[in-house]
Amino acid sequence: MLEGKVAMLTPHGDPLGRIGEPDIGGQCVYVRELAARLASDGIGVVALTRDRGQGRPREEPIAPGAKVVRIPCGPQGFVPKEELFPYLDEFAERSRPYLKGAGVIHSHYWDGGYVAGRVQDGRLWIHTSHSLGKLKRASLPDEGRYRYAGRIEIETEVYTECDRVIALTRRERDDLVSLYGVPREKIAVIPPGVDVRRFRPSGDKGRLRGKVGFPLDRPVVFSLGRLDERKGFDLLFRAAAEVIQGSPGLRPLFVLSAGTGHPNERRERERLEGLVEELGIGEWVWWLGVIPEHELPAYYEAADLFVLPSRYEPFGIALLEAMACGVPVVATVHGGPSEIIEPGEEGILVDPTDTRSLARAIVELLGDPGRREEMGRKARERVVAEFSWEMVARKVRKLYSEDA
Ligand code: F6P
Repeated sequence: MLEGKVAMLTPHGDPLGRIGEPDIGGQCVYVRELAARLASDGIGVVALTRDRGQGRPREEPIAPGAKVVRIPCGPQGFVPKEELFPYLDEFAERSRPYLKGAGVIHSHYWDGGYVAGRVQDGRLWIHTSHSLGKLKRASLPDEGRYRYAGRIEIETEVYTECDRVIALTRRERDDLVSLYGVPREKIAVIPPGVDVRRFRPSGDKGRLRGKVGFPLDRPVVFSLGRLDERKGFDLLFRAAAEVIQGSPGLRPLFVLSAGTGHPNERRERERLEGLVEELGIGEWVWWLGVIPEHELPAYYEAADLFVLPSRYEPFGIALLEAMACGVPVVATVHGGPSEIIEPGEEGILVDPTDTRSLARAIVELLGDPGRREEMGRKARERVVAEFSWEMVARKVRKLYSEDA
């Protein structure tokens, strides 16, 4: 039985952070939306995150009954999630007072899992990974560049000690079993959701002219995400060069929205700009910074196609958002998207490391407005039927109510 409130542990990801700022991504949307839906069902939620020293209040409501508490630890200011480990014990100690009355601990990512291991004190402990270290390491062209051993060791410990693991896809469940030896019965598959009321097509694309930060006089291939090698934007640009050379009549514009607040992101942006220059496709590429969340639906709707070219994508909340806005998608076959779209129905699945097939899929859809329209309609229908946050919250709530 679920007793008391739920404490979410999300040290690097402030659920009320501005999406696109360093280390503020899909996990934050997940915690924020889930917390709000649980609270509206009468389950109190406190989400504990690290205070980044940006002058934000110590406590801030997410929704009635759900709040975020910012815990100061380590040096003042932003610390990249890869460098947070030395401060997590302090985070755990300072979190304790806020855990009073919590019957369930729900930890997020390996940093949250590590903290949960220190403070759970016999409470029901649920963990969501959001991304698996072993898969991320394997997906990067140069494995040795980052050190993953510590992260993987912590992940392994968390899976052993927690009561239940939430996998976002069946594929992630299978990876948890085969790569980390997690017992299958310990894993519940619960996909994340999308706010289908906010992310919806307005039905009047014409009104978007001048409201989005790119021109609408050419077909737009839109992509968005963190500037991380895993996201595969280099692959998208290589495919773009093939599209431009192979189908000059299409005249597409490749629009990429991404933040550059993190040193790794700035490095990746430089690398990508170098590639765009080398490929000679500068006039076909349009760079955008972070788009405020409330403006995002218009950007998705204004696009003709959304592409998610990740080398590995645990889930891809942006994919759901685009689909909810009625946009057809070309998405990576590596990871969660294969459980979100039926190939040929709502979009096309490709292996983006094969840039020729990525280019082919883009050309195929850009050249066929009727098919795009039908796929966009089906995309919206699918998301509404299967991926609302209300459904997610119902399933998570059931898990919280199970005895360990
Ligand atoms: O920090 C932003 C974020 O996208 C989180 O939403 C997510 O949990 C994490 O990064 C995944 O990071 P990585 O690719 O390093 O495993």
